Amino acid sequence: MIDLRSDTVTIPSEKMRKAMYEAEVGDDVYGEDPTVNKLEEIAANILGKEAALFVTSGTQGNQIAGLVHCKTGQEVIMEAQAHLFLYEAAALSAFAGVQIRTLTGERGAMKPSDVEAAIRGDDIHEPETGLICIENTHNKAGGAVIPLENMKEIYQIAKRYGIPVHLDGARLFNASVASQVPVQEFAKYTDSVQFCLSKGLGAPVGSIIAGSSDFILKARKWRKRLGGGLRQAGVLAAPGIIALEENVNLLEVDHENAKQLAEGLQNIEGVVIENKVETNIILVNITKSKITPETFLLQLKEHDILAGTFGPNTIRFVTNNSISKISIDKVLLASRKILSS
Ligand SMILES: Cc1ncc(COP(=O)(O)O)c(C=O)c1O
Repeated sequence: MIDLRSDTVTIPSEKMRKAMYEAEVGDDVYGEDPTVNKLEEIAANILGKEAALFVTSGTQGNQIAGLVHCKTGQEVIMEAQAHLFLYEAAALSAFAGVQIRTLTGERGAMKPSDVEAAIRGDDIHEPETGLICIENTHNKAGGAVIPLENMKEIYQIAKRYGIPVHLDGARLFNASVASQVPVQEFAKYTDSVQFCLSKGLGAPVGSIIAGSSDFILKARKWRKRLGGGLRQAGVLAAPGIIALEENVNLLEVDHENAKQLAEGLQNIEGVVIENKVETNIILVNITKSKITPETFLLQLKEHDILAGTFGPNTIRFVTNNSISKISIDKVLLASRKILSS
């Protein structure tokens, strides 16, 4: 199967499996797992933050950040198509007791002036603004890189009002590789960062959240409350170390493959590429062709190719480290055959 449904579908490499087998472990709830501690130290260093914490998933990392930063009854500002708003089962509202205020951005980037205008005042009728969230890269905007300058401006506004900023950087390393801006630069304009080890970086499990030592101390408690305190978790952290030390360098290939796929697809009659392909996500619209997205996906499957729907008329292809240049050629060949028949 050529699986382009997501970058979460990757299978851990031999090297990762060997590292899992050989991992030194201890009880991580006691802070005694050397492999988890090593992963957290590496991650904090890469991000230029005081401390980091290994968490079970991107969703858990985002929730913990919201729980640490916010009080119940506050409001959280984020972009209208943010993963935190669309795809986390309203967890911030359910757990942190906050309401979400969405702002329509451009290619996932909120206008700093809109963010400032959305910050609430002291009026007793209004909730306080407790947190601002940014997503980089922005999934729903097709893996768009949120420019560093945009993050800086929003952060400066947030600091003027004393509001923390959280970065949902599930694919932060994709943003960094595509824009050639070190992740540390993006992290500079945040109070907390979440990134996923189990997406483009190819690890089987887990995310990292990072911030000040005080933030991580509180985050550790929230992780425990949420049932995310793991014991001999070094077996899960070991592939995360390989993901950070080696697989970041492979993202460039995913991006090249995505561009090649997008260029090939847009030459097929009836195909429109909806996004500017900067990283590993391609959003494809085939409403001008003779077949429906569902039929197209079914026919791709007959060629052993998987992609997913992403909205009523959009098909999403996500390149990942299981996809080679040969796979891209096969997808283009099959797509041409299906769409021109
Ligand atoms: C931007 C973004 N944030 C957060 C998440 C959640 O990550 P997880 O699936 O590990 O909970 C995802 C998952 O696709 C994502 O795309």
